[in-house]
Amino acid sequence: SAAPILAALAAYLLGSLAFAVIVSRIMGLSDPRTFGSGNPGATNVLRSGNKAAAALTLLFDALKGLVPVLLVKAYGAPYGMVEGTIALVGVAAFLGHLYPVFLRFKGGKGVATFLGVVFGIDWVLGLATALTWLIIAFFFRYSSLASLVASIFAPVYFLLGDGIAWSADAPAVAALFFMALLLAIRHGPNINRLFQGTETRIGGGKGGKG
Ligand code: G3P
Repeated sequence: SAAPILAALAAYLLGSLAFAVIVSRIMGLSDPRTFGSGNPGATNVLRSGNKAAAALTLLFDALKGLVPVLLVKAYGAPYGMVEGTIALVGVAAFLGHLYPVFLRFKGGKGVATFLGVVFGIDWVLGLATALTWLIIAFFFRYSSLASLVASIFAPVYFLLGDGIAWSADAPAVAALFFMALLLAIRHGPNINRLFQGTETRIGGGKGGKG
C-alpha cells in the first residue's frame, strides 16, 4: 500500500516548517539565521533574548516529531502501518527539519524534533532523554553538548529498557541511532568550538558562529 509513503511525505512536509523562523517572524524578532550560530533552532532564538519565542520554537519543533508518530500509532494499524512506519514518519519529520523543502534544504540541527520523536516512541524514554539534556545543560551550560549527549543516550536507554525484547522494536532502535548520527554530523561546528573552548554558553548572548 502507498499509505506509509504518503504518511512519510506528510511528516517530511510538517518537519520542513522551521518554527524558529516562523515564530521569530510572527513575534517581530530578527531572523535567527542572521545572528548567533545562524541556526534556525530554539537555542539560537534564545540568543535574541526572547525566552517565550525560544520556548515556542522548542515546543512546535518538538510537536513536528511527536504528532506524526502518535498519529500513525493511533490510526495506522488498519492501513498496515505498524513499527516500521512509526519509525519512518519520525525520521521523515526529522529530515524535514534538517533539510526543509521550504528553505532550500537549509534547516536546523534536529534536537527538538528528535526529542518529539523520542517522546512519541515512548514517553518514559522521552522523559529520560529530556532529563539527560537538562542535567548536562545545568552542569556545563552548553546547549550543543547537552544535545549531543542526550541524543546518543536515547537509543542506549531504549536498548537497556527493552532488554532482550528489543528486536521487536528494531525499526525504532535503528531510527534513533540514525537520527543521533545525523544530529552529531549537524553539530560539527559546535563540536569544533567545544574542543577549542569557544562554544557559546547558555545565557551567553549573541556570540558563536556556525
Ligand atoms: O538546537 C541545537 C543546539 O544543540 C545547538 O544550537 O545555535 O548553539 O548551534 P546552536
